[in-house]
Amino acid sequence: MAGRPGRVAGKVALVTGAAAGIGRAIARRLAEEGASLVIVDIDEQGLVETGRLIGAADGNAPSQAITADVTDESAVKALFAAALGQHGRIDILVNDVGGGTSGRIWEATAEDWDHVIRLNLRSAFLCTREAAAHMRAHRSGRIINLSSGAREGTPWAAYYSGNSAYSAAKAGIHGFTRGVALELAEYGVTVNAVAPGPIETERTGPGFRKIEHLEYGPIRATPLRRIGVPDDVANAVLYLASDEANYITGTTLPVAGGR
Ligand SMILES: NC(=O)c1ccc[n+]([C@@H]2O[C@H](COP(=O)([O-])OP(=O)(O)OC[C@H]3O[C@@H](n4cnc5c(N)ncnc54)[C@H](O)[C@@H]3O)[C@@H](O)[C@H]2O)c1
Repeated sequence: MAGRPGRVAGKVALVTGAAAGIGRAIARRLAEEGASLVIVDIDEQGLVETGRLIGAADGNAPSQAITADVTDESAVKALFAAALGQHGRIDILVNDVGGGTSGRIWEATAEDWDHVIRLNLRSAFLCTREAAAHMRAHRSGRIINLSSGAREGTPWAAYYSGNSAYSAAKAGIHGFTRGVALELAEYGVTVNAVAPGPIETERTGPGFRKIEHLEYGPIRATPLRRIGVPDDVANAVLYLASDEANYITGTTLPVAGGR
């Protein structure tokens, strides 16, 4: 950071799902650009590693790590109280927690369906509600949600394993983002989403490699002909969190290699 101010210098950013994958990259990127981080996940060990990665970079503030299940209403209330207790404010919320699969529609159970909706939508609702109360009072703030290319269906998943609940949830994130953006606009709070295409993480990498040779494999179905990396998404989130995106709200930005 030496020589220039960070793009989110002095801001406090709370990132859920920060123990792995895209959430970890988002937390690291925001920290590199000057934000103080509150990192949240159910995976305590993973948070320790993310905290280490953030702390290893010169000039980064130490992060506050909170182990919590963000689908649990009282846990979410407690984690926001802890974050606000330590920092006094939250300027940026990134709702990264999500994922899950329901399988093909003729095999999907109601429990699988509910789990996916809960993980992607209820988590975003609970965290956004807490952040919105605070940001509205301060008349500023940034909320960034994780949608997905799957909001319009994912060819490789649809052909080979099925994930209509995930597609429904990520389409839901798009509508939720737009609706909350309209509610919060008059309070100076912007709400946007990013919609990643296939992004290689510890979790997704092996699965993508198994199907990449197939007709509807993720590389063939992506015009830029590569699988994305977590920093592709982190850079888009950083942009939406920065002052450069002051006049952007209610939008879902694809980060999907043209898909
Ligand atoms: N990887 C991709 O290709 C891709 C593509 C499009 C969208 N996305 C979306 O991006 C986001 C991150 O994806 P990823 O691939 O990095 O996921 P990941 O599974 O690698 O990481 C998700 C993190 O969330 C945590 N988590 C899970 N349930 C939780 C809960 N109830 N409370 C708190 N933490 C919880 C996990 O422990 C993990 O650290 C998700 O919303 C996902 O749907 C991913």
